[in-house]
Amino acid sequence: MADQYAQFGEDKQSAEIPVIRWDQPPEGPVLVLLDQRTLPTDEVELVCTDAPALVEAIRTLAVRGAPVLGIAGAYGVALAAARGFDVDEAAAALAGARPTAVNLVVGVRRAQAAYQAVLADGGSLEQAAEAALAAARALHREDAEASARMARHGLALLDELLPGGGHRVLTHCNTGALVSGGEGTAFAVALAAHRGGRLRRLWVDETRPLLQGARLTAYEAARNGMPYTLLTDNAAGSLFAAGEVDAVLIGADRIAADGSVANKVGSYPLAVLARYHHVPFVVVAPVTTVDPHTPDGASIEVEQRAGHEVTEVTVPRAPMAGAEAGGGIPVAPLGTQAYNPAFDVTPPELVTAIVTEEGVVSPVTAEALAALCDRSRQV
Ligand code: MRU
Repeated sequence: MADQYAQFGEDKQSAEIPVIRWDQPPEGPVLVLLDQRTLPTDEVELVCTDAPALVEAIRTLAVRGAPVLGIAGAYGVALAAARGFDVDEAAAALAGARPTAVNLVVGVRRAQAAYQAVLADGGSLEQAAEAALAAARALHREDAEASARMARHGLALLDELLPGGGHRVLTHCNTGALVSGGEGTAFAVALAAHRGGRLRRLWVDETRPLLQGARLTAYEAARNGMPYTLLTDNAAGSLFAAGEVDAVLIGADRIAADGSVANKVGSYPLAVLARYHHVPFVVVAPVTTVDPHTPDGASIEVEQRAGHEVTEVTVPRAPMAGAEAGGGIPVAPLGTQAYNPAFDVTPPELVTAIVTEEGVVSPVTAEALAALCDRSRQV
């Protein structure tokens, strides 16, 4: 159960955001999340003591964003194991908590496989639980390293694509430290540009309906002292038309084998705009987001979320699963039907490059992505 909320003290507020951590108080191990539902106004910790609480935290976006979903899923398996719950049941529930980000399944399976391997070798339940935790910790560490490498590759690519410097970058949703063991994916590239004195402006799409851009990316940009401006999603077209965007940088929740990219709904229209205006459209994601088992964009399951996220102005504070209303301010007549896909799919021909920790894929082809996955498996 997520039975405790602990307000962050002043002393805990630092440039480094403690997004997810394993803790071992006397009452038993817990997974502590920075609750992203209450940002940017309140920095609150959510303490999960079992997998069902973590599943609820994932569904309601207390923890969200592809890479950290993988890390959370792995720790969730470790939590179930350490507390003596049914690990396979917990793993199935965690893996199914949200369908689109493949990293969640990858993280869950990795910890589950580590657990099962120890048992298959005749190890004890305790040893198996330790192995699951070690796997989660390794994934957490590797994601931080991948993030730093993506930032390096991504900045080199930006410098190559935009030799004049003074990059004006448009981003969508949230792809920073809140989604990662490190500084994130697309946001980490913008941050590297900022640190290198080469970011003129970060344009931040507000990202309706749940405002990940306004609530989370603006929060991270402000904490890092970046020059940023928030815009409504539908203002992006006029921004391109005014010649104010040099590149689009986004993350990904799943990249199909053919290079189709599922990301936060609203990414595909940006890709179309970018193509029309001859602006590079760059996707930044760890290799774990590439799913060789999903052949193409049409095979990606796009999560459909509750209509009240659209018919009300709200942030995802309250549990929403199965709820008629989310407790927000209504902005549409009662009973209005809403179309609310959480993600959309951008075809590979609109993607200038995919930046991973193993290097850059451009042009984006099935062959180049397969070679990248092979390379990363050999490392
Ligand atoms: O619904 P969310 O907030 O989990 O969606 C997150 C995104 O779409 C991110 O852009 C994506 O996970 C990439 S983060 C590296």
